[in-house]
Amino acid sequence: MNYWTVIPAAGQGKRMNAGISKQWIELLGSPVLKLTLDVFEKDQACSGIVLVGSERELKQMQDFVQTFQYTKVRQIVPGGSERQQSVFEGLKVVPEDAELVLIHDAARPFITHHHISQLVENTIETGSAVLAVPVKDTVKRAIQNQVEETIDRSSLWAVQTPQAFRLSIVKEAHEKAAADHYLGTDDASLVERIGHTVTIVMGDYHNIKLTTSDDLLFGQAILLDRQG
Ligand code: CTP
Ligand code: MG
Repeated sequence: MNYWTVIPAAGQGKRMNAGISKQWIELLGSPVLKLTLDVFEKDQACSGIVLVGSERELKQMQDFVQTFQYTKVRQIVPGGSERQQSVFEGLKVVPEDAELVLIHDAARPFITHHHISQLVENTIETGSAVLAVPVKDTVKRAIQNQVEETIDRSSLWAVQTPQAFRLSIVKEAHEKAAADHYLGTDDASLVERIGHTVTIVMGDYHNIKLTTSDDLLFGQAILLDRQG
């Protein structure tokens, strides 16, 4: 089944502290946004892409899309001050007849066709699914530096994007969250909140989000490894 993708790219990259937002950072000469868009542009099942950018970078984004001739980028819309608002703005312009929508962070450029197709296959059946990987570290809950509890790791997952949903479900979830002024930490949490079960699909430890400068080192290593 075909899908549409919403790509939020309207953040400021404060934790990266690179002086530019994360999608413009170059890894081995390729801007992060190019690495991310290339995957969806080339993915057979992707029918259209909605790119969400900050108001002041919209022109830069339009020029970028034109330079690299991304034929699947159908709309570039301004985002909001929170990621959730940016995604909501993107969802508003996805055509009504799109059945499935993937939401994928621009700052997560190492997503593969294989994982997209695993996710899509699952979402056709379940309506809501996310890529995630088992947490590797032991996780403790603490108040200041006093440990309160060691959490059973066997049930913990680190959740990634893409997250995939039936369009009607995720739109309802975002509308309800906006009406309630509820801010979740990902899109799936909004869907959980309206009573849908979200399924986990095994992700990939290489599908990292570029968040702090350490991630750039790992990102370059992933690209070098792929170049063989
Ligand atoms: N994003 C967005 N609109 C926002 C905030 C974030 O579209 N108001 C996007 C980012 O551009 C990024 C993705 O959501 O592709 C994941 O967010 P995050 O990693 O938090 O990126 P930033 O918000 O840019 O980084 P930081 O939180 O460190 O400022
Ligand atoms: Mg952020």
